[in-house]
Amino acid sequence: MQASSECLPHRRCWFCTFALPKLTLSRDTVCMATTIYRDLEVLYTRQQIADRVAEMGARISNDLNGEKLVMVGVLKGAAIFLSDLARSIQADATFDFVAVSSYGKGQRSSGAVKLIKDLDEPIEGKNVLIVEDILDTGLTLAYLRKIFLQHHPRSLRIAALLDKPSRRLEKIEADYVGFSIPNLFVIGYGMDYAERYRNLPDICLMSPDHPE
Ligand code: IMP
Ligand code: MG
Repeated sequence: MQASSECLPHRRCWFCTFALPKLTLSRDTVCMATTIYRDLEVLYTRQQIADRVAEMGARISNDLNGEKLVMVGVLKGAAIFLSDLARSIQADATFDFVAVSSYGKGQRSSGAVKLIKDLDEPIEGKNVLIVEDILDTGLTLAYLRKIFLQHHPRSLRIAALLDKPSRRLEKIEADYVGFSIPNLFVIGYGMDYAERYRNLPDICLMSPDHPE
């Protein structure tokens, strides 16, 4: 792909006065966001994500103190985050996945959370880390925490790549947070809008006037 300075996106936010982080955008990143997916702005580059995920993995490894871990990813949004985080964790780890339905095909939640894929393996007596892409209203993680605790794990912690504290409806916090952001709708690095954009390597902003 031909890179040029014309690819540089505007550094503004459609939603609020949130000061976007200063980014060092690679030419590839800029071209990916503006050429393949038009009208998108990068919020966190793949390098910023990689650095932060590595820090999270180091903290999680340290807290485990040599014990085993079951990483439970929340499909589908956390799949990419889990695969990177797992490789930053130094522990004897296994994977499991659950799927819940809470969001429709647009940017708004229906409010109701339903388990549509349960755990494959028992978690009783194990150190469990729920791996989630975004902690938003908290409905999903509050629901998962409640049902997982009924299985009596040895420990239950939460790692969320993004946190939107201003949107919280349930009293819940993650033990490990990548980035805390304001009320923005984001896509990329596993996160979707109507199932699209999950394969964007960077975390980008979705325009609020995008048709639902
Ligand atoms: P919560 O139950 O409201 O906390 O929502 C959690 C889920 O909503 C996340 O796992 C995401 O799948 C989805 N979600 C929340 N905010 C966004 C966003 O900005 N982009 C994409 N998905 C989102
Ligand atoms: Mg999700």
